[in-house]
Amino acid sequence: MKVLITGVAGFIGYHLAQRLLAEGVQVYGIDNLNNYYDVDLKKARLAQLHSRAGFTFQFLDLADRLGMAQLFQEQTFNYVVNLAAQAGVRYSLQNPLAYVDSNLSGFVNLLEGCRQCQTQHLVFASSSSVYGANVKVPFAVSDRVDHPVSLYAASKKANELIAHVYSHLYNLPATGLRFFTVYQLQLGLARGGDPIWLTTSLCKRLRPTSLLTFTTSAKCSGTLPTLMT
Ligand SMILES: NC(=O)c1ccc[n+]([C@@H]2O[C@H](COP(=O)([O-])OP(=O)(O)OC[C@H]3O[C@@H](n4cnc5c(N)ncnc54)[C@H](O)[C@@H]3O)[C@@H](O)[C@H]2O)c1
Repeated sequence: MKVLITGVAGFIGYHLAQRLLAEGVQVYGIDNLNNYYDVDLKKARLAQLHSRAGFTFQFLDLADRLGMAQLFQEQTFNYVVNLAAQAGVRYSLQNPLAYVDSNLSGFVNLLEGCRQCQTQHLVFASSSSVYGANVKVPFAVSDRVDHPVSLYAASKKANELIAHVYSHLYNLPATGLRFFTVYQLQLGLARGGDPIWLTTSLCKRLRPTSLLTFTTSAKCSGTLPTLMT
């Protein structure tokens, strides 16, 4: 089984890749290594992944339309997980076009690839930010999300809508994950590549990550790896 992970040098992408590789899945990762935060951290994650059997990395920007088309011409993926995005709510005030390129144009480039190679299932990162100005808590998948308050949030809501269109028109099964604040026990990597861990006492004070999923109406085919079900 071969899985494409976009944003594989990122926080969630790296951990997903490690988990899938441990399960014997072939992982093809792409990332543009943008400088939204420390690029050395992303490179250190990639160095760890490169040491694992079954991992392939390609430096590629989702917004590179021709590059993305070529990727899907040359490779076939059973599943695609889209974690690449321009993240951050505040940054979207300073650099709005980064969100248009990565989260809108880039997302459609990816969907086109999935359509061409008839990917069995697309899993993509949405965000709790889609709840925007909602005041009702706790949030629910059934809540309306029509009042985003940042371009980042609007781009994630747009992803959900566009994925629904591809699901409806081309029978592409797609599931969006509305991540809330995701955190890890690992603080970073030391020079030698060893992980640095948070102390247990601090971890105990943290609450588990919440996750709401948004699934399109197309029928799912195939079986997802356990992590994604
Ligand atoms: N971490 C959270 O708390 C959280 C919360 C809500 C939603 N999300 C979403 O989950 C996904 C993963 O989050 P993360 O915390 O791992 O983010 P991250 O920034 O650590 O990882 C994203 C990766 O995508 C890459 N990337 C960005 N734009 C790209 C592009 N155009 N082409 C190729 N690669 C590109 C970046 O270089 C980075 O390595 C993102 O879509 C994010 O919006 C995360």
